[in-house]
Amino acid sequence: MGAEQGLSPDPEKPEATLAERLILGQVLAFEGDPRALGLAAARHEARGGVLVRDGLIRAVGDGAALRAAHPEARITDHGDALILPGFIDAHAHYPQTAIIASWGKRLIDWLNTYTFPEEARFGDTTYATDIADRYLDLVTANGTTTVASYCTIHPASVDAIFTAAQARGMRFLAGKTCMDRNAPGNLRDTAQSAFDDSSALLKNWHGRGRLGYIITPRFSPTSSPEQLSALGALWADHPDCLMQTHLSEQVDEIAWVRSLYPDARDYLDTYEAHGLLGEKGVYGHAIHLEPREIARLQEVGAALVHCPTSNTFIGSGLFDMGLADTMPVGLATDTGGGSSFSMLRTMAAAYEVGQLRGEALHPAELLWRATGGSAAALHLQDKIGRLAPGIEADLCVLDLASTPAIAQRQARAKTIWEAVFPTIMMGDDRAIAQTYIAGEPVKAV
Ligand code: GUN
Ligand code: FE
Repeated sequence: MGAEQGLSPDPEKPEATLAERLILGQVLAFEGDPRALGLAAARHEARGGVLVRDGLIRAVGDGAALRAAHPEARITDHGDALILPGFIDAHAHYPQTAIIASWGKRLIDWLNTYTFPEEARFGDTTYATDIADRYLDLVTANGTTTVASYCTIHPASVDAIFTAAQARGMRFLAGKTCMDRNAPGNLRDTAQSAFDDSSALLKNWHGRGRLGYIITPRFSPTSSPEQLSALGALWADHPDCLMQTHLSEQVDEIAWVRSLYPDARDYLDTYEAHGLLGEKGVYGHAIHLEPREIARLQEVGAALVHCPTSNTFIGSGLFDMGLADTMPVGLATDTGGGSSFSMLRTMAAAYEVGQLRGEALHPAELLWRATGGSAAALHLQDKIGRLAPGIEADLCVLDLASTPAIAQRQARAKTIWEAVFPTIMMGDDRAIAQTYIAGEPVKAV
């Protein structure tokens, strides 16, 4: 599925964009976080429908009633499949697509052995464009409609993913990854060039259509204090932008940060001291936090992102989902430190990590984290991540019986939660019956 099959509304045919489409199936709509609101936050329609027009959801409810009220609408009937908001991957590295599932290393030697050599290739626009398209094919096949992605140090890597996402009409967040030390020479920028390049990319891409720029220092070990300060200044100039980085992922990494920043109170302080702590900060991993760090993150209203397949694959640790009681927490693959492109697999890993910490996460919470929860962490809750009128019509439709193993388990289900949980735990791209971007189907079926 290349850009030519992206099926975004054809500007030559305005009548096509005006037509209403009624998508029928089971519908599961969340009004808010089931962790806070309980299962009352969820509404299930066994024979439901989602009415879309001009890329937006216009109505959600009983399928027959919507059909009667909108007799002109084009019907797409997904039968018993479950209509959800498209998945939102709140932290990924699209340039690591080709090195996913690389064996045997932990964070720092994984970066040096596999990641940095691959990222060095992204100065080549043709290569960056090929991987950007491959990546978007993979994520949309897995029901993901929005990603917050790191790029590489090369501005061309940002242009490549934004151009590809724009061609498909996707809501997409990305930023140039900044590094001016502790990386190979061909993967280092400087404090000044990181500021200048990020600033130019931000001006070119931020707010263009459905795209948003994220200021992206990779993490404290690969940025000098001067570079962190430069990016803090850029963020202060553009407070509507998000800022994303990594925080307290692995114990060795934290010890390294302590030696690189001897004056910092803790890892978070290396960001705070340089203007990189704020409400629009999005901090990936955040596994080994000190009490002061948690209190500070809560105080400023910053968001965390749980990357469970990465945290087990690289051996980083077990994220505490209890933090979601007091902070926005999104869910993410962290491709390719994460071992999957699938948010279903990621929800399964979040469930397993929860079990290892003594908390069984309800399917409602898993689905919310992968949709509305990630949207809130990315400050996009008014645009995506819910099935409600006025929200953009990015949808994912799940076949709840996509393999014999899942089908036989699902056949015993008495509730929607029992019906969806086998797909969460055992499903993959075969469970994605369709992915809609701005109301248009994009998956070849
Ligand atoms: N910390 C700094 N860079 C990375 C990265 O690319 N992946 C992960 N998982 N952690 C990081
Ligand atoms: Fe990451």
